This record gives sequence, structure tokens and C-alpha cells, in this order.
Amino acid sequence: MGVAVSNWRLANAVARAGQLGVVSGSMLDTVLVRRLQDGDPGGHMRRGIAAFPVPEVGDEILRRYYNPGGRAAGAPYKNLPMYKQRVSDARQRVTVLANFVEVWLAKQGHDAPIGLNLLTKVQMPNLASLYGAMLAGVDAVIMGAGIPREIPGVLDAFADHQAAQLKFDIEGLPPGETEYLTFDPASCLSPAIHSRSLKRPAFIAIVSAASLAATLARKSNGRVDGFIVEGPTAGGHNAPPRGSVQLNERGEPMYGDRDVVDLAKLRELGLPFWLAGGFGSPEGLTAAIACGAAGVQVGTLFAYCAESGLAPELKAHVLQSVVDGSASIRTDPRASPTGYPFKVVELPGEAARAAARGRVCDLGYLRVPVRSPDGRTLYRCSAEPVGAYFAKGGDVADTIGRRCLCNGLTASIGQPQSRPATNDIEISLITSGDDLRAVASFAAARPGYTAEHVVRYLCR
Ligand SMILES: Cc1cc2nc3c(=O)[nH]c(=O)nc-3n(C[C@H](O)[C@H](O)[C@H](O)COP(=O)(O)O)c2cc1C
Repeated sequence: MGVAVSNWRLANAVARAGQLGVVSGSMLDTVLVRRLQDGDPGGHMRRGIAAFPVPEVGDEILRRYYNPGGRAAGAPYKNLPMYKQRVSDARQRVTVLANFVEVWLAKQGHDAPIGLNLLTKVQMPNLASLYGAMLAGVDAVIMGAGIPREIPGVLDAFADHQAAQLKFDIEGLPPGETEYLTFDPASCLSPAIHSRSLKRPAFIAIVSAASLAATLARKSNGRVDGFIVEGPTAGGHNAPPRGSVQLNERGEPMYGDRDVVDLAKLRELGLPFWLAGGFGSPEGLTAAIACGAAGVQVGTLFAYCAESGLAPELKAHVLQSVVDGSASIRTDPRASPTGYPFKVVELPGEAARAAARGRVCDLGYLRVPVRSPDGRTLYRCSAEPVGAYFAKGGDVADTIGRRCLCNGLTASIGQPQSRPATNDIEISLITSGDDLRAVASFAAARPGYTAEHVVRYLCR
């Protein structure tokens, strides 16, 4: 659960309770440098950094970003340069280190496996993220939001510290031309990094159709170890409905029979699978097992537990607002610049706050590369200022209703950017699954519940 909702603490707690704890790798580089600028309370980032195998990498990043006293009230965070196809080694090292630290911390004090979740579509930081997580011994990589066919081969290459590449999806690239993203551990970090090979993590693809699972099983460039089958009630991004999209009276995409995953076809692939989206209950787990699943992936119930990265005051506010009926979940087909439906927790005043936010794009993880008529690669996001998007050849219609997920999601984990020039502070954007009402009842019966409570409840 990004961004840093399933952080190292939550993944660690889930693992200690005997299940696979998953850290979100989304935007971890920004999360790390913001934790450092906030003074690294508890010293956890510095503990993880001290364990990194190339000490100069940590020294460099601490020098640049660590502020022992924290930021002055209202001072803005120093941002990292936004990702592009080619960025400096120094920029890549922040991503490697951030993923290393999160996985390393998640793995302390127990022997259970830890996974890393990335979004295929985000593309540019993914190679450095995977390598950093593998340096920390990540046990599973879980990826959806796209077709991650080339990731298994990347994991094989990184296990031997070999350079790896991914085809870089650029809109408008002339036919016959191919561009790549590349990452070479030796040149980015140190030639000495080759000393011992790394564990090749299991690769689990997130799918919303058996046909996609079959394609991935047969046509990936390496071993696929299983699937998460995620339905449209899950928190975060959802796959769009198949065929032409109809909206209901709340403007949400409507799903039908064609969107029901053919589990018989999936079973034929002979690989383990886990069901996700509304399975966060003992009954959900029993039903999943009865369908042949190896288990379930649960998000929303963990997002509101004590260890999750959501800001504590937001957790309480959302749960209370759900109970008193003033908040609801909406599957918003427009909010996410990715173009995928995205579930937004609509709190009182949400729409007005979103409309009042001045558009700024300064984190840029969802920027899409486009080839301009003069042959340059430009980067644009449909949530950026409309004029800038248009100047890069974007259609103004694409900008309508878009929300800045990068700034909104980081605000919701307690790292909102301050904008002194306009006297603003970024507003939070919270996502959850359709089951939020059940989560609110669960929480009401167990105030301050922990990840261990959730695991015990699910496995009872
Ligand atoms: C706050 C939140 C953030 C999420 N972020 C991601 C993400 O970054 N990547 C991803 O693959 N799934 C993400 N998900 C989906 C979860 O991994 C999981 O599949 C889903 O929540 C399961 O359904 P449930 O919410 O009904 O338990 C997110 C879910 C939540 C609630």
C-alpha cells in the first residue's frame, strides 16, 4: 500500500505475526529524504543506512538531506530531482538506498519473508528500487498496474549484480524505434558490489483477468511464481472494466460479469494465487481457500492499524467519518493521472479542497514520457498545471478532474509539502477499499488495533 502506508513498521509487524509483510516501494526515495529532513526520529533511517554495503552512498545522502533538528515550522521539504529516462547515478543511489533501508528494517527481528510492491506503470525508478530491495534480501516482488513481463528477467540479472534493462514506454515513439531504461549496479554503486550473489526473490504479478495471468506465465522473460488476483473493490488503483466503460449515478465505473476472474482458468496454470479486494475477514479467507487460492492479500484493514504509515489523526478522522456517515468511498475514474480508476475516501469538504489546490507538479512519479514532434522526450502529467500540460502537446480534456497523487498521498503519511509562497500546505488524499465500513466497525470494537490483531482475526 503506497505511499508508505505499508511501511517497514507495518511489514515488520505482519511478518512477526507469521505472514508475508509487504513494503510499498512507491516514492520511497522521497519518503526517505523527507524522514531525514524531519530529523529521523528514532534513528531508524540512519540504522538502515548504516547497514548499506557501500557506506559512501549513505554518507552522501545523509550529508545532503539529514537535518538533526528537523525542519523549521512551515519550511518546505527539499525535493529530489524528478525522474527521467536518464538520471544521475547520485539520483539513482537515493532510490537504491531508500528501498534497501525499508526492506532491511522490515526484515529485522524475525525470519518471515518480506515483499516489495511496485507499480509497473511508474517505470523510471523501478530498476533502482528492485536492486536496492534485493540488496536487503527481499523475498518477493509483487507488481501490477501494467504488464510486468520483463521483471522476472531483471530479478535474474540483479541476483548476479548484472546490468538490466526494461523497454521504456514512450507515447508517440516512431514505429521500429525502441528506448530502454537501464541500471548497472557496478557503475552506479561500486565495482566491488559483485562479491556475493543475491537471492532471487519470488515474482508475484497482480492481475485482474485469467488471460493476463496466462500471458505472464507463458511470455515473461523469466520465472513467474504466482499471482495476486485483485478485484474492483480493492483499495488503491483498480483495473478498468472490460469493454466500454459505463458510469453509475455517482460517476463510478460499473463492473459486470466480464470482469469476474475465471478462477478455473487460473487454476489450470498450476501456480499459487491469492485473492485481493474485500477478502479481509475470516469468511473471506475461507472462501478464497475454497476457490483454490493459497490465501488472501489484505489492504484496507491493515491501512488503519497502529503500525501503518497513515497519519494517526487521519486514521481516526476517516474511521469516525465513516461511522457518522459523512465519509464515503468513491471509485473515481478521473482522479489518477495513470488513467486507472482510483478509490478515493471522500471526506467532508473533499471536493472543495481538491478544487482549491493550485496545480503543482514537483514530485513527478506519474509523469508520462512522450516523444515530441522535434524528437525530444518530454515528461508530462495530467495533474500538472494545465498550461504546462498543453504546451507539451497534452489534450486539455485529459487534465479534468485529475488529482496530484504524489503530493496527496505523501501528505496522508504526515509529509505534506509546505508552499510558503502561497501560504499553503498540501492536502491529503486517502485511498481505501470498498470494505471501509467493515473496517470502521472492526476498529470501533478494538481501539488502537495492531497488525497482530488483524492477522489473529483473519486466521482464527
Ligand atoms: C491505502 C492503500 C494503498 C494501496 N496502494 C497500493 C499500491 O501502491 N500498489 C498496489 O499494488 N496495491 C495497492 N493497494 C491495494 C492493496 O495492495 C490490496 O490489494 C487491496 O487493498 C486489497 O483489498 P482490500 O483493500 O479490500 O483489503 C492499496 C490499498 C490501500 C488500502
